[in-house]
Amino acid sequence: MSVAYRAVQWSGHKRVYDAVAVAGIALFVAVFFTVSKVIHAGDRAASDEILLIRASGACAMVMLHLILCIGPLARLNPVFLPVLYNRRHLGVLTALVAMIHALGVIGYYHGFGVVSPLVSLLESNTNVGSLRAFPFEWLGLAALVILLIMAATSHDFWLKNLSPAVWKRLHMLVYVAYALLVGHVALGSLQADTGWLTPTLTLAGLAVISSLHIAAAGRESRRDKIAGDSDWIDVGAIDEIPESRARTVCAGGERIAVFKHNGAVSAVSNLCAHQGGPLGEGKIIDGCITCPWHGWQYRPEDGRSPPPFKEQIATYPVRITAGRVQVSPRPSPQTGPASPAQRKERAHG
Ligand code: HEM
Ligand code: FES
Repeated sequence: MSVAYRAVQWSGHKRVYDAVAVAGIALFVAVFFTVSKVIHAGDRAASDEILLIRASGACAMVMLHLILCIGPLARLNPVFLPVLYNRRHLGVLTALVAMIHALGVIGYYHGFGVVSPLVSLLESNTNVGSLRAFPFEWLGLAALVILLIMAATSHDFWLKNLSPAVWKRLHMLVYVAYALLVGHVALGSLQADTGWLTPTLTLAGLAVISSLHIAAAGRESRRDKIAGDSDWIDVGAIDEIPESRARTVCAGGERIAVFKHNGAVSAVSNLCAHQGGPLGEGKIIDGCITCPWHGWQYRPEDGRSPPPFKEQIATYPVRITAGRVQVSPRPSPQTGPASPAQRKERAHG
């Protein structure tokens, strides 16, 4: 959460996460390099530089797959939430590994001529009309620019200054980068003598990422109760909402999370003010709704973060009638707290 600019803070947990990620990168590159040396021996042998270029490109691509899988996996099973918590670190590391790959390519293939390496990269192949000879490096370059912009703006400082909505839209460009990279690898393998393994794995990765996103979206829509146009939306029997947890309803395209805590129910927007995390999948800790993604907290009664934090999310009027919880689709005015509905109201309903 943010009250003012704070430099990146590494907790012990984050240090362990980063150390494991860096060790994983080193292991991946070492295994890729060794296996490629064995497979491409004799006439088909590639130089060590080319193998390192391929290893770093493949490593960055695998990391990008992990990043894109973490979101839907965490929605399908909360066991993956701790990995999601540090996803931004993985994103920055991916951009760095991709940068090493690109610098290797630019230095090795374009660094020994008389023109600038970048100009050489952009001008050496302009066969845009041919699929077999397409300048696939351009796609890699465009993807790299996106990954670097995302890495540079990953800190909460940018989230606050750009606004969460703009920041989120900017970071959704990761899907554009991914599409460009699928093209980069597929078209590149038509030109490099790397066999069918790389394009096959790329297609398999695309299938995994798409299936996980479809499964997570399906689960989310099954969880949502779709509301009609009425003034009060039925959320369900109060006993069906687990203590300190929420049930989500969807009203006019907006998701509302209805929490039960100590016999009272409160309704807030399902969207966390930080990065749009699904608050309805979080729980109440120390009296505050706690986002499952990075732990930002909001008081159920007024949607405000506890002091000294200043964030606020929308709240919605709730009532309990004949043991059933009902929520209004219209947010409460932001000036004052929305009164939580008490379980005892059941007697009057
Ligand atoms: C300026 C940006 C980039 C350039 C110029 C570039 C160039 C290249 C070249 C020339 C190859 C073929 C290497 C060979 O087999 O000799 C290649 C392969 C590859 N690149 Fe890039 N690339 C760039 C960015 C990226 C990025 C951002 C990623 C991933 C995040 C990436 C992932 C890959 C992968 C996975 C391969 C295939 C490796 C293999 O054959 O096993 N590239 N790239
Ligand atoms: S999205 Fe980061 S704490 Fe909610």
